[in-house]
Amino acid sequence: MTAPSGISRREALAQAREALSRAGLDGAALEARLLAADAFGTDQAGLLARGEEIVAASAASRLADHVRRRLAREPVGRILGLREFWGLPFRLSPQTLEPRPDTETVVEAALARIADRDAPAQLLDLGTGSGCLLVALLSELPRARGLGIDRSAGAAAAARANAAENGVGARAAFLCGDWAEAVEARFDLVVSNPPYIRAGALAGLAPEVAHHDPRLALDGGADGLDAYRAILAALPRLLAPGGCAVLEIGFDQAGDLAELAAGAGLDMAEMRRDLAGHPRAVTLLPRARLV
Ligand SMILES: C[S@@+](CC[C@H](N)C(=O)[O-])C[C@H]1O[C@@H](n2cnc3c(N)ncnc32)[C@H](O)[C@@H]1O
Repeated sequence: MTAPSGISRREALAQAREALSRAGLDGAALEARLLAADAFGTDQAGLLARGEEIVAASAASRLADHVRRRLAREPVGRILGLREFWGLPFRLSPQTLEPRPDTETVVEAALARIADRDAPAQLLDLGTGSGCLLVALLSELPRARGLGIDRSAGAAAAARANAAENGVGARAAFLCGDWAEAVEARFDLVVSNPPYIRAGALAGLAPEVAHHDPRLALDGGADGLDAYRAILAALPRLLAPGGCAVLEIGFDQAGDLAELAAGAGLDMAEMRRDLAGHPRAVTLLPRARLV
């Protein structure tokens, strides 16, 4: 037991919200609730239901520490060490990108190509990071198996742990490697959210991204397209008959992708937009198989 802090959960939450809001952080109210729930060892419902409860000094100090880190522009997901994606929890490590809601567009586009979700399928996720894409897809496709590859050994290990924690570990394998260089198999579905920020734009990113997401997960080379060139060149040999690939793109990269894909013998079957209306996911098929 630690000593009581003298303030209620409701007051502590209001103070946290006020501090974040004064710093001009978007979504201060939600962020304060997430940080307070974690600091008090409860969920958001518990936070509101027991608002008059006096906070223990240790919990108040945990919340103060969370708020201090957020004011230093560390993202909430990093502070909590956990981020939700496709309704599933993903643990983060310094080697993993924090999964973004926009990336769920890739999952939607991929699932739209699957005629029978109960059929067996082989999936490949290039640049798996936290494993969010592969784990989300395996959670929707009960007889599918998948391989996730990342250049970062730490990311591959984090993805393996996330697959196990989300109950799909027995159907997933993870490797450390350079895209699909070491892979000889063919796949029904290849997904990837590769690094696609232009190297020259990295310095101008928000501190939450620039200081906390790994550079390997962001840096797409001089024109932002290096990873696509490598992945597109490998896709024709990676796709099983009838297979397709779904890649995340930057909001202004659809034209570049169509051009690069055509050069690699692939056609763009669909370009899907994210919730903000930006082009976000492209579905690619080997040429002459457009359906
Ligand atoms: C934008 S992050 C995407 C992570 C995760 N798939 C997601 O959507 O949140 C890109 C990932 O590609 C990985 N990566 C970068 N270069 C790579 C390479 N040459 N081979 C394999 N993975 C690479 C990074 O380590 C990072 O995890």
